Amino acid sequence: MTSKIIGTGSYAPAQVVTNDDLAKIVDTSDEWIASRTGIRERRIAVDEGTTDMAVKAARRAIDNAGVEVSEIDVIVLATTTADNCCPAGACQVQAELGADKAVAFDLVAACSGFLFGLNVVNAFIQTGVYRTALVIGSDHLSKIVDWSDRGTCVLFGDGAGAAVIQASETGIKHMVMGSDGMKGSILSCVARTGGNFLNGKTPELGYLQMNGQEVFKFAVKKVPECVTQILDESGINIEEIKYFILHQANFRIVEAAAKRLHQPIDKFPMNMDKYGNTSAASVPILLDELNQEGKLKRGDKLVLAGFGAGMTWGAALMEW
Ligand code: UT7
Repeated sequence: MTSKIIGTGSYAPAQVVTNDDLAKIVDTSDEWIASRTGIRERRIAVDEGTTDMAVKAARRAIDNAGVEVSEIDVIVLATTTADNCCPAGACQVQAELGADKAVAFDLVAACSGFLFGLNVVNAFIQTGVYRTALVIGSDHLSKIVDWSDRGTCVLFGDGAGAAVIQASETGIKHMVMGSDGMKGSILSCVARTGGNFLNGKTPELGYLQMNGQEVFKFAVKKVPECVTQILDESGINIEEIKYFILHQANFRIVEAAAKRLHQPIDKFPMNMDKYGNTSAASVPILLDELNQEGKLKRGDKLVLAGFGAGMTWGAALMEW
């Protein structure tokens, strides 16, 4: 017994912010951003939060799967930008959907979050604990980005992607995950710092900080490494893979991965031009786009892979 993705959905806020729009607030240009990253525009949530976006993506995934909300046993929301410290965003999603039979919790693994969530629910399903799961990646990066830092603010966007996963004879074949906390400082965002009546400190809010080149080096090494690992461990030839659905951070990272894996670039769909890097939402948004466009056929072999703060990485090999 394994589990299978039986429906996908995604949501991006309506507000489009182009590279030219950003050039009005920081010293940058469409030419710099597009040539270094492949990003041309992103969506920014103006009056919505992580949970709002998650609920919209989840409803679409549930419709696409054709399941009843009452069938959902577990909801995992992968996010680094929850609206509240508590309750968990997943519990808010549960309430909005009326999924009263589900257990719901959040998972923090930054841009690898959707893959980590998939792995967790696959383990539940494989062991017979649950039968139907909803995994959502939703992030509201625009609220933790320093809009005066051109090195980071041009890279990110807001959005959500979701998938319904159910017990099945075929589907997920193998998954790998990894973490390297020793590299944590290259991509971080400190939470509200600890001020209390004893230390007299005023709490401060942190912003996303990144050593772009170190993250780049990490990604171009780790992504092909974990894709190779998952294929080797499952005895699948790389030529059998139809699409490599990778985290959408930078087209140069995706191109470098394709090169290291000796695979043609057209096996690596990309959409960062429209959405930027939407963190935990990036892999499920891209998966949903391919699904909605009818590009995925039952039996196709896919590899999903991501990397992110932590540092973390993960990959999934599945038969669609
Ligand atoms: O989910 C994971 C999230 N993060 C990532 O995946 C990020 C991975 N890293 C990257 O994608 C790339 O390192 C960046 C796109 C962030 C940067 O590209 P780069 O080719 O590594 O540029 P750089 O950091 O070496 O900067 C080159 C120059 C610098 O100027 P000087 O020192 O050469 O004069 C920067 O100050 O570009 C400058 N620069 C910019 N110029 C215009 C940095 N950001 C900008 C900008 N517009 N937005």
